[in-house]
Amino acid sequence: MESRSVYKSAGQSEDTTGISRRVSQITVSAIKQMPLLASKVPGCVSLGQGIPSHNTPEFIREAVIEALRSDASIGKYSLQPGIPKLKELIARDLMRTRKIDFIDPETELFVSCGGMEALAAGIATIVDRGDEVILTSPTYSSHIEQILFAEGEPKFVPLQESDGWSLNPDAIRKAITKKTKALIICSPLNPTGVVFSEAQLREIAAIVLEHNLFVVVDETYDFLVYDDVPYFSLLSIPEIKDRIIAACSFSKRYCMTGWRVGYMYASERMIKQVLKVHDAFAICAPTISQFAAAAALSGTNGKDGPGDESVRQLVDSMTRRRNLVCSRLDRLPEMFSYVKPEGGYYVFPKYSMGNISSMDFALKILHEAKVITVPGNAFGPTGEGHIRLSFGAEESELNEAFDRIDRWLA
Ligand SMILES: Cc1ncc(COP(=O)(O)O)c(C=O)c1O
Repeated sequence: MESRSVYKSAGQSEDTTGISRRVSQITVSAIKQMPLLASKVPGCVSLGQGIPSHNTPEFIREAVIEALRSDASIGKYSLQPGIPKLKELIARDLMRTRKIDFIDPETELFVSCGGMEALAAGIATIVDRGDEVILTSPTYSSHIEQILFAEGEPKFVPLQESDGWSLNPDAIRKAITKKTKALIICSPLNPTGVVFSEAQLREIAAIVLEHNLFVVVDETYDFLVYDDVPYFSLLSIPEIKDRIIAACSFSKRYCMTGWRVGYMYASERMIKQVLKVHDAFAICAPTISQFAAAAALSGTNGKDGPGDESVRQLVDSMTRRRNLVCSRLDRLPEMFSYVKPEGGYYVFPKYSMGNISSMDFALKILHEAKVITVPGNAFGPTGEGHIRLSFGAEESELNEAFDRIDRWLA
């Protein structure tokens, strides 16, 4: 597999003497490496990491302040799978949003340190050395590292850019071998912003049943879909409930990236196994962050809670930013072509600049234009020739980044 490390492209080496094969072969994702490299380049503007500029809503912060005042035990570990009240709220929210008849909060959920830990722990629980895991290409870069860490083999199935990065279930079917253990499905997909259709996901469910596979479902951006594009979740298909390992997050929906809280939804049997990994790596999610997550969900009823209002405002704001970034890209047709994102807050343009690799292109923009982006190759082989731009930043910052790119190109 091509190097996915920007540090390497930037000429940095690492000493892996005595380090396990498992760890030597993985990398800190380019999404996180780019801001670290940029911290040495004064005055950069970021279209890099996916952090919304919005703060955690006030009603959540206020609830935490109140909890800090009234509950002296808030600094202690919670029960290992999470605070029971939070798990009840998660079950209520998931049943409503995914139209699931019943979720047992005690046995079918656990609270994790972000969606990321749920993904890593879930993959480590099912993947043995040499097992193949099918990924779309592009895919979220950490999925690749999580499979490699478990000593599995990522098998990339390219998405068709000419067809709006759409998912081709037949191509996935063809990629299945005797060694295939699982698929990873992320919709809306980071980095392309494609939202997979109900028909495509129902076919994925049929494949999962037919071949007795697991499906790791990454629903980090479930709430963020534009232009009334219908959102459908694999969690809404009861027939595959025993096959699903779902990772969900509070990070993006409630602008809570730094609280590090998310959760897993899976069968009782699976949760029991994953909890061993959660215990070994984290013990429990931060108790104070679980209070914040409980406040977020207590204020969300699908209609008129402060959580509903904050999500609506976030979606409106991201819609404006997506339109702004697309209109700025439209002014640079000689350099960039792109598929308009249907969800998430990323766009994944293809650039035209000879044969330059996406790692070198991202480093060039960083040093010459002082704009942080993420090289496409970090998201799988199909990402080569592309860069990922996040539009989580304020509109003024997005405009400044594009003004710099305009001047750089001129
Ligand atoms: C697709 C995807 N999955 C998972 C994560 C991790 O999110 P969390 O902050 O919940 O760990 C991210 C973060 O950007 C993401 O984009």
